[in-house]
Amino acid sequence: MKTLLSLSAMALLGLTVQAAHAGTGADSYNLVEKGRYLAVVGDCTACHTVPGKAPFSGGVAIETPFGKLVGANITPDPDTGLGHWTFDDFQKVMSEGHSKGGKRLYGAMPFTAYTKVRKEDNLALWAYLQTIEPVNNPVETNQLPFPFNVRTSLIGWNMLNFTPGEFTPNAEKTPQWNRGAYLVEGLGHCGTCHTPKNLIGGDKNDQFLAGSNLQGWIAPDITANAHSGIGQWSNEEIVEYLKTGANRFDIASGPMAEAVENSTQHWTDEDLMAVAVYLKDGQPAAAAPQPVAADTPAMVAGKAIYADRCSACHVPNGEGVKNLFPKLAAAPLVNSTDPTSLIRVVLAGSRAGGTEAAPTGPAMPSFAWNLSDDNIADVLTYVRNTWGNAAPAVSVGEVSDLRGDLHP
Ligand code: HEC
Ligand code: HEC
Ligand code: HEC
Repeated sequence: MKTLLSLSAMALLGLTVQAAHAGTGADSYNLVEKGRYLAVVGDCTACHTVPGKAPFSGGVAIETPFGKLVGANITPDPDTGLGHWTFDDFQKVMSEGHSKGGKRLYGAMPFTAYTKVRKEDNLALWAYLQTIEPVNNPVETNQLPFPFNVRTSLIGWNMLNFTPGEFTPNAEKTPQWNRGAYLVEGLGHCGTCHTPKNLIGGDKNDQFLAGSNLQGWIAPDITANAHSGIGQWSNEEIVEYLKTGANRFDIASGPMAEAVENSTQHWTDEDLMAVAVYLKDGQPAAAAPQPVAADTPAMVAGKAIYADRCSACHVPNGEGVKNLFPKLAAAPLVNSTDPTSLIRVVLAGSRAGGTEAAPTGPAMPSFAWNLSDDNIADVLTYVRNTWGNAAPAVSVGEVSDLRGDLHP
């Protein structure tokens, strides 16, 4: 439902853009079209459009470990949006994280990544933003509690966590690799979710894309690491996942299903392939950990629970069924050090889909009512240490903690 709405909203926008620009020359039309594509690549909608409300009129709540921030109204409305802004004001948001008048913005607006966007691309984004229907909608973006709501604290935050500057290509790499790097590190802001965070919410840049915990979801390691990352995925399989939300390894759910729906499914095939080439480059040679021995009590109990409750869908050897039931064997998410996402899926269930390719994805049932904390710890310990997987055992405490969080 949400997909259909957002798709038709995009189509409508496309039509108005075309109509408004008929006769103003091919150049400005092309610039606006380019900007429209870049806004999709940057997924501005995710934080600036409330589903069902006017595009880019703001109001999306973003939960952070420090409290709530809200996406601004970025329509050209003169009173509550960007109506009085110049391109230079906009460029400063993207490259420095400074709003009009110098006000510092919070990193929830991913300027730490957008700083890499080239000025020519920002010109196109700006041209596009000006074609959007102005909407009068006052938004109070800063809803953090004291002391986090004091913007001057961002001076120190920026010093520690932010390196401004456009993307500089690596001359030793191909243009395709550089395009992928530009998109992943810059407008695509993949690291916003996939890079581990320090205590004050900044990116740990030495662990770029190595996986992170977001409010109960794990954005897994998407480096070329063959054990914890996507080293075993082919370039085509990476493209397939980003294009359709599923491949033989995994089905996107939660925040990634939204990223596919709003953003990556609309990227050109060339751009997706460039992303794959970049992600697959540079294989960190981390030694795989040893699996938990198959004869421990948890593994024996877990094996029986798996056969009884899980194998009907994920099949006995953990291979899953393409586009229906995700593969659990050799799956990065299953092997991630932090099992939060896995516990959440088993406790709460999940429904994948919402993309053009899989409009109503199959569902993973919730087991909260018929498996105990011990049962869930055991079955996940088994899944994480069978069929080539190896990862720390899941403890009963980890399951009961998350059960408490999910059903307060
Ligand atoms: C992950 C969420 C997120 C994404 C994605 C995002 N923004 Fe934002 N944006 C925010 C938040 C939150 C604020 C308000 C920050 C603050 O007040 O400190 C903001 C503020 C802004 C502002 C400043 C508005 C003002 O009045 O100061 C502009 C301009 C802006 N965003 C443009 C964009 C564009 C263009 C894109 C896509 C390329 C984008 N944003 C993508 C979250 C996001
Ligand atoms: C809003 C947060 C967010 C953003 C932005 C994001 N991701 Fe993700 N991503 C996730 C989450 C969460 C998952 C795990 C999904 C699941 O559990 O099914 C994921 C999963 C993935 C996977 C599958 C990994 C696996 O082992 O199954 C790939 C590949 C991926 N993302 C690539 C990207 C790329 C490339 C970008 C940037 C273009 C990106 N993601 C941006 C949150 C995000
Ligand atoms: C009725 C079919 C069905 C059964 C039974 C089932 N699952 Fe699932 N499972 C799914 C589907 C469908 C998904 C994908 C849901 C999504 O991505 O939103 C999934 C996702 C998962 C995931 C996340 C995998 C990933 O990479 O995103 C894990 C882990 C998982 N299941 C484990 C289990 C365990 C353990 C059991 C038994 C206790 C189980 N499942 C029983 C259908 C099932």
